[in-house]
Amino acid sequence: MKIGILGSGPVGLTLTEGLIMAGHDVILGTRNPSKESLQQWIKKKGGEHVIALPFREAAAQGELLVICTNWAGTQKAIESAGLWNFKNKVVVDVTNPLDGKGPDQQGRLSFSIGHTNSAGEQLQAWLPPDAHVVKALSCIGHESMFRTQQEQETPTMFICGNKRAAKAAVTTLLNEMGWKDVVDMGTIEMSRNIEPLSILWYAYGFRTGTWSHAFRLVK
Ligand SMILES: NC(=O)c1ccc[n+]([C@@H]2O[C@H](COP(=O)([O-])OP(=O)(O)OC[C@H]3O[C@@H](n4cnc5c(N)ncnc54)[C@H](OP(=O)(O)O)[C@@H]3O)[C@@H](O)[C@H]2O)c1
Repeated sequence: MKIGILGSGPVGLTLTEGLIMAGHDVILGTRNPSKESLQQWIKKKGGEHVIALPFREAAAQGELLVICTNWAGTQKAIESAGLWNFKNKVVVDVTNPLDGKGPDQQGRLSFSIGHTNSAGEQLQAWLPPDAHVVKALSCIGHESMFRTQQEQETPTMFICGNKRAAKAAVTTLLNEMGWKDVVDMGTIEMSRNIEPLSILWYAYGFRTGTWSHAFRLVK
């Protein structure tokens, strides 16, 4: 499948690598496609399976879209991408609505929205109603976003979204990237509960100085 990824930060690049390894082609949407470091990264890791283009072209060409933007720039990014380009597509939302102020003394980051709203719901509201947002991959560090099939124990990935078929498509992609335990938590409103897991994830990282942990639902 041709997948459009919006945002070429650590998450966008890691997911590009994971999706190529799963056999997909990626159009990496970015404000600056000709950036030297990005072009070098593509040459080294992506080869002919990745091309960097402005947000609008990436969104137009991607059959499924993945939002990997800094929350503060997300609305601008999707508007640059052209809201019509999201119509009738599955949109994977990896964002966390962090306020960018950094951790407090307990290592807690803060959200700029939350409790009565979430990034997932806000994105669904900004996009056309027939864009099917699925929250996924928000409660894991980018370095662990794709996993080798050889790993015995894999953590749980919590997802949510309003459209069953969209969640099935995202579950397939996650399985291809090595996630064996994908748990559907319900409608996009459950983003309010999934996104705060990232704060717990970061707090553990700040406390221990390690960043390879993940959540697992033991049944
Ligand atoms: N880092 C992690 O481990 C991790 C894990 C789970 C979830 N997340 C969430 O996933 C998202 C991406 O994470 P990241 O670490 O890759 O973020 P990042 O490096 O802070 O930003 C990602 C990209 O967002 C785009 N962007 C930033 N400001 C923008 C603006 N004003 N207008 C348009 N685009 C803008 C840029 O894309 P271009 O430079 O390509 O233009 C940037 O490279 C965030 O919402 C983050 O909270 C991160």
